[in-house]
Amino acid sequence: MLNFEYQNPVRIVFGKGTIAELDKLVPADVSVLMLYGGGSIKKNGVYNQVVTALGKRRVLEFSGIEPNPLYETCMKAVGMIKQEKIGFLLAVGGGSVLDATKFIAAAALFGGIDPWDILAKGAEVKAAVPLGAVLTLPATGSEMNINSVISRASSGEKLHFSSPCVYPQFSILDPETTFSLPERQTVNGIVDAYVHVFEQYMTYDMSSPLQDRQAEAIIRTLIEEGPKVIKNPMDYDARSNVMWAATNALNGLIGCGVPQDWATHMIGHELTAFYGIDHAQSLAVVLPRLLTHCKKEKQAKLLQYGQRIFGLKDADAAIKATEDFFNSLGMKTHLSDYKIDAVDAANKISSRLKARGTMLGEKAELSPDGVSQILLGCE
Ligand code: NZQ
Ligand code: ZN
Repeated sequence: MLNFEYQNPVRIVFGKGTIAELDKLVPADVSVLMLYGGGSIKKNGVYNQVVTALGKRRVLEFSGIEPNPLYETCMKAVGMIKQEKIGFLLAVGGGSVLDATKFIAAAALFGGIDPWDILAKGAEVKAAVPLGAVLTLPATGSEMNINSVISRASSGEKLHFSSPCVYPQFSILDPETTFSLPERQTVNGIVDAYVHVFEQYMTYDMSSPLQDRQAEAIIRTLIEEGPKVIKNPMDYDARSNVMWAATNALNGLIGCGVPQDWATHMIGHELTAFYGIDHAQSLAVVLPRLLTHCKKEKQAKLLQYGQRIFGLKDADAAIKATEDFFNSLGMKTHLSDYKIDAVDAANKISSRLKARGTMLGEKAELSPDGVSQILLGCE
């Protein structure tokens, strides 16, 4: 029986030349902090477009947000917001810049003692500095969701929080900004979006044919359009379709009322925390082995997926077709490809999950020992 609430207040402005719309979207009567990463936006012209669109507003900048953004970096921006009396945050970049901006927005107005508690203890976020985004990397769905994932250098942890307070007021999605993506990041984005769909779809039947078909539509779109952007990075239409598919993969819609897994992500976050591999790389390694490990529980959905997406009649063949698709994009799917020792990873990650008392999966039946077995299989 379906039972859910769904509200998504993010205004999406999609298409060529839409960065100019910032002039209408960003308040003109407060100081704005523009946040960005390591400088890709200066090379591809996005920075100039943003600065031009913001016109005469008082705009300060905070740069240097790293991939898998660090708490330590975020807290420097929090200090700046307080000192400069910033009233609006504008994130310009990929998921890392957007996630960092969300955390910064919440931390700046956090009523408790230590903002790390938002991530480590689930401390409630009651308010956040208003924010907007210009997305340059389709992958995470951060532009249209309430999630943020932050790492801490001092403890080697990677944790997430979710709060409706950090919904962007708007997100600008201009597919032309993605022309400059290195192939590795383009591939990362396709795989991340694919796995987001899986986490909300590859569970058990809930009599939710609409959500299933929506999920399958996103998967088919990624399979059809993904290779086009690898082949021709300047293919505007294919870039648009990949971008919108990635947003739809994690804006909450396909997850309405259905069981969700997220085990691949939780294990993947630990792989990134311990070994620094890209988020999507970690998912590509874990997903095929997790599906094999949980084949019995996911049998019906695996068969449906295999049949509808690939015309296959067998769960193992469906899992193999998924891994083959990742490989066809150039994504490596084994720990050894990233020079990670499977035994070391299995020990470290299962111990950490045990210490936290974490059980994973759509029925919370995947134990740290199960995770250890999965990781050993990822060799
Ligand atoms: O820092 P700059 O110089 O901008 O370079 C970035 C970065 O090096 C570069 N890049 C971005 N747009 C570009 C570009 N280079 C050229 N042209 C462009 N148009 O790409 C590199 C990677 O960027 P990053 O933002 O780290 O990638 P992504 O969007 O994949 O974000 C990954 C982060 O998002 C989290 C991940 O855990 C990871 O920390 N996630 C966030 C989620 C969410 N908020 O809902 C869900 C996801 O599952 C994920 O966990
Ligand atoms: Zn992800």
